[in-house]
Amino acid sequence: MADLTTRYMGLELRNPLIVASCSLVNSVEGVQRCADAGAAAVVLKSLFEEQIEAETREIQKHVWLSGHTEAYDYVRRIGIEAGEQDYLSLLERTKKAVSIPVIASINCITADWWADYARKLEAAGADGVELNIAVLPSDPRHSSNEIEKLYYDIVEGVRKNVTVPIAVKIGPYFTSLASVAEALCARGASALVLFNRFYQLDINIDKLNLVPGYRFSTPEEINVSLRWISLLAGRVKCDLAATTGVHDAPGFIKQLLAGAAAVQICSTLYKHGIGHIAQILSNVEQWMKKHQFESVTQFQGKLSQKESEQPESYERLQYVKALVGIE
Ligand SMILES: Cc1cc2nc3c(=O)[nH]c(=O)nc-3n(C[C@H](O)[C@H](O)[C@H](O)COP(=O)(O)O)c2cc1C
Repeated sequence: MADLTTRYMGLELRNPLIVASCSLVNSVEGVQRCADAGAAAVVLKSLFEEQIEAETREIQKHVWLSGHTEAYDYVRRIGIEAGEQDYLSLLERTKKAVSIPVIASINCITADWWADYARKLEAAGADGVELNIAVLPSDPRHSSNEIEKLYYDIVEGVRKNVTVPIAVKIGPYFTSLASVAEALCARGASALVLFNRFYQLDINIDKLNLVPGYRFSTPEEINVSLRWISLLAGRVKCDLAATTGVHDAPGFIKQLLAGAAAVQICSTLYKHGIGHIAQILSNVEQWMKKHQFESVTQFQGKLSQKESEQPESYERLQYVKALVGIE
C-alpha cells in the first residue's frame, strides 16, 4: 500500500488532503463525515469577529439602552462572549469526536483580537490556528508597505500568544508576493495557504444591482495557486498548502508535484459530496502505483522551480510564441 503520509505545519497527517474552512466543517457531524471519508485534517469554518459584532448589534437593537454606556458595553461583551463560546464549544466537541487534527480559523477586524482569539482557540484544543487574513486595499491613502505591515503585525502578535502552529491564508494580490511570503514565515507562520478565494462580486444588468458572484471555484482556477506553490516551494521557510480549484485527483497530484505539503479542498465537496474525498485519495494511490512512487514524499516538489533544470519556464508571463498559429 502506498504511503500517503505528509508533514504539514508540524502536524503528522495520514495523507495530504485537508478539508478547507467552509460550512461543511461547521459542525461535529460534518467534521466526523470528512474524517470517516479519509480527510487527514480539517480547518473549521472561520470564526468571524465581524459576524459576532453584527449578531451582538442585533441583540442590542432589542434592548432599550440608549445613553446607558456601561449597560451598552455589558450587553456588547456578553454578546461577544456568547459568539465565541459557540465556536469554542464546537472546537472542544469536535476534538473529542475525531482523532484527526482540527485546525481552527479566525478572521478579525480589530488588531488585538487576532491574538486574543488565537489564545482561546489554543486553550480549547486546536491543533493549529489558521489566520484568514483578508484586506481589500481599496483606499489609495494606504501604501502597500502599510498593508503588508498589518499582515506582519497580526502574525507576530499571534505568534507571541500561542505555541500551536500558525498557518496564514492569504489572497494572491500582493505586488511582491515572494517577499511577503518570506516575511510571513520569518515572523512565525509555520504554513502559508495559497490562495483564499474571496467572496465574488457581480452585477445584475436587469435589476441594476449588485449580486454575489459564483460561490464555488472551477477546476480552471487552479493555475494561480499552482504557479505560486511551484515558485515558493523549498524557497520559503514554511510549509505550503494549496487551495482554490482542486476538484479531482489530477489537480491534487499537480499541487503535490509543485511542492504543496498539503492540499485543501472545498468546492468539489459541495458539488460531489463528502464521498469524493475517498475517490480522490484512491485515484492518487492508483496514479502513484502507475508511476512507481511508494510515498508522497518521493514526488512532492519534483516539479517545483527549485528542482527544475529550466527555472525560467516557471516565470513566463507572456504567450508570445505559444500564440503563433492561434491568432
Ligand atoms: C461556502 C463557502 C464558505 C467558505 N467559508 C470560508 C471561511 O469561513 N473561511 C475561510 O478561510 N475560507 C472559507 N471559504 C474558502 C474555502 O476555504 C476555500 O479556500 C476556497 O473555496 C477555495 O477552495 P476550493 O476551490 O476547493 O473551493 C469558503 C468557501 C465556500 C465555498
